[in-house]
Amino acid sequence: MIKSPVITVDGPSGSGKGTLCNRISRWLNWNLLDSGALYRILALLAQRENIPVSDGVGVAALAHDLDVQFRSAEGDEPVIVLLNGDDVSPQIRQEDCGSAASSLAAHSVVREAILGWQRSFQRPPGLVADGRDMGTVVFPNAELKVFLLANPHERAKRRYKQLNAKGINVKFPQLVGSIAERDERDKQRIHSPLKPADGAVVIDTSDRGRDDVFAQVAAIIEKRFGLPAMRT
Ligand code: C5P
Repeated sequence: MIKSPVITVDGPSGSGKGTLCNRISRWLNWNLLDSGALYRILALLAQRENIPVSDGVGVAALAHDLDVQFRSAEGDEPVIVLLNGDDVSPQIRQEDCGSAASSLAAHSVVREAILGWQRSFQRPPGLVADGRDMGTVVFPNAELKVFLLANPHERAKRRYKQLNAKGINVKFPQLVGSIAERDERDKQRIHSPLKPADGAVVIDTSDRGRDDVFAQVAAIIEKRFGLPAMRT
């Protein structure tokens, strides 16, 4: 069976993955997988069921028969996430849900429980996969792997703006602390740590705008997939 092509975009929180993936998937009309949202959904369900994030087996058991769909939002807004038909985006975008997701994502039993589910998003005409281990573990044969970086202060600033725009109240110093803690946990964990995949195109987005980063990646995609240049 011929598999649909995959583009992976990995990197830490606030590096610009979400915006870039949204733009690529809209441009190519490809499917989108926001893998962080799956971990966030498990965090939300664990909270509802009173299962502590330290209970990997308990959390992994929640990952069955979940119908999750991603809808592209307006402009550069984060993708809308539907769980069994309900829009859970406002709940899962909270920073405490991100922290809980990062804690439960450290359990190999949880990661294994959602591996096949993540791969099931690979459908025609293609997939853009956003996460931490998309290029290293979930789609190691992806046609194109991108890894975004940005300095921690810039990433916290972006996250702060994003959360504020959504009416989610956070204090900047606390956000800086929470992001730093999450980064450390994601990088240091034993299973699928955050790191660039072999052969990944690494882009530092610290001092660059979204249009600029998208243009660079779009040019690489055009070349790699033999597409006509979208800009004249
Ligand atoms: O990308 P996002 O901030 O929504 O991810 C939330 C958390 O989920 C991350 O901090 C990370 O710990 C975890 N995650 C992961 N692997 C992925 C995507 C997210 O471990 N592929």
